[in-house]
Amino acid sequence: MAKRRPSSGRWLQEHHDDPYVLQARKEGYRSRAAYKLLEIDKELQTKHGKKAALLRPGMTVVDLGAAPGGWSQVAAKLIGKTGRVVAVDLLPIEPIVGAVVVQGDFLEEAVLKEVTKALEPQSMADLVLSDMAPNMSGFKSADMARGELLAEAAYAFIAQVLEPGGAAVIKLFQGSEFHEMVKHARTMFAKVKVVKPKASRARSAEHYLIGLGYKN
Ligand SMILES: C[S@@+](CC[C@H](N)C(=O)[O-])C[C@H]1O[C@@H](n2cnc3c(N)ncnc32)[C@H](O)[C@@H]1O
Repeated sequence: MAKRRPSSGRWLQEHHDDPYVLQARKEGYRSRAAYKLLEIDKELQTKHGKKAALLRPGMTVVDLGAAPGGWSQVAAKLIGKTGRVVAVDLLPIEPIVGAVVVQGDFLEEAVLKEVTKALEPQSMADLVLSDMAPNMSGFKSADMARGELLAEAAYAFIAQVLEPGGAAVIKLFQGSEFHEMVKHARTMFAKVKVVKPKASRARSAEHYLIGLGYKN
């Protein structure tokens, strides 16, 4: 998540007035980010019908960079009691009904093992979500490089656990590797889209890659 100086009056004011922050508070979501995933899912259904829903009952979902838990809350609600969510973050996550939490650095082998263990017995997932973002240092090229590393780790994980036909939503930053990352995703999925949900702040370089129909 972007690092903020506590004195940043502009951020505080903006956060205070943000309609998504207010809506999240009212609807019990832990972060305004929840509306990005809801919007992505809704948009797919509007364009391609209900069958195209990203989150369906009974699915196994992995949520990378899940804290404080907005996306996992949305996923747990939509996949219902027969589904399961594995939520991963460096930071602690308050328990979410229907989700298993793994705390640690996803770039570490031991954490990756813990996540795959949480997916047993099949050790496969129907949907991989990644909203992972580095702590922003303010040095644009270094921040972009760290963002790319996280997205690459998500791609590698997809190759390891995603069911053929499965889907993914991955946060990508518009840095030097952006087009290469999108191009590579096209070799992995039958359909790839890049979106910038309304709930994503305009000044943020983040975009979301949606991959549908994993080709294995
Ligand atoms: C934008 S926030 C995620 C918000 C979340 N999707 C939600 O709905 O509440 C990005 C998260 O990525 C996490 N993150 C960054 N690098 C990570 C890493 N190497 N391993 C695990 N989590 C990481 C951060 O700790 C942060 O909580």
